[in-house]
Amino acid sequence: MWDYSAKVMDHFHHPRNVGEVENPDAVGEIGNIVCGDALKLTLRIDRKTERILDARFQTFGCGSAIASSSALTEMIKGKTLDEASKVTNKDIADYLDGLPEEKMHCSVMGMEALEAAINNYRGIRPRSQEIPAGEKIVCRCFGVTDKKIAQVIEMNNLTTVEQVTNYTKAGGGCGQCRPQIEAILAEVLKKEKEKKESLPKKMTNLEKIRLIQETLEKEIRPHLRADGGDLELVDVDGNKVYLRLIGTCQSCPSMGFTIETFITQKLRQAVNEEIEAKKVEE
Ligand code: FES
Repeated sequence: MWDYSAKVMDHFHHPRNVGEVENPDAVGEIGNIVCGDALKLTLRIDRKTERILDARFQTFGCGSAIASSSALTEMIKGKTLDEASKVTNKDIADYLDGLPEEKMHCSVMGMEALEAAINNYRGIRPRSQEIPAGEKIVCRCFGVTDKKIAQVIEMNNLTTVEQVTNYTKAGGGCGQCRPQIEAILAEVLKKEKEKKESLPKKMTNLEKIRLIQETLEKEIRPHLRADGGDLELVDVDGNKVYLRLIGTCQSCPSMGFTIETFITQKLRQAVNEEIEAKKVEE
């Protein structure tokens, strides 16, 4: 027996919005009874505002498929199509306080039915009628494309082939596609890792202050001391660095310019592009 949340059980035993909207403005059909799950979503849409006025579903599948469809209709009623198109399978699962991982494909089916209904309203041909350009079928047993697998991996932070099967069913039949799923998984994880590594590392305030102190110590103060001057760090407020001049620097007429240009430039190179050095008036 699956460990379902109380909310899943509630939506399974008392599904909301079952049936079909009469003369619907949009229809999204997904799945296949042969594969074990099928969902038909029908929508009534205000054509002026593109707001979803009514949403109804008919589902053939297990309890979590019914609960996911019921939750989806509740979530999208009242939303505009643009707002609804942002609903992901994770949102559906979260709305239900989670689904067992082996049942996550039910939430994906909900997301796909919604996508199909929105495409239907906008005159975009359903995905099921042909393989979209640039995509290829990876799992022949369940008709899952490479793009769908990559999208679900990214959206749900999946890391194993078993998880991909739980979320998309791909790999859950004859198993011949599992090496290809493994390759897509490795490719997506590699890209994610590269993306993370290319992001600039966010510094804590403490790290920023230490780096400012280190830069002043190594690159600025030796030059000033050579002419009998010096400076000290008074405060750091966001990207503003307040400095007090000491010794001959206090009476140097060009020191304002030095702070604004030379010191600011050095700190920007070492810390960040927003840094601004400021002289503290005595
Ligand atoms: S081709 Fe994917 S399980 Fe058979």
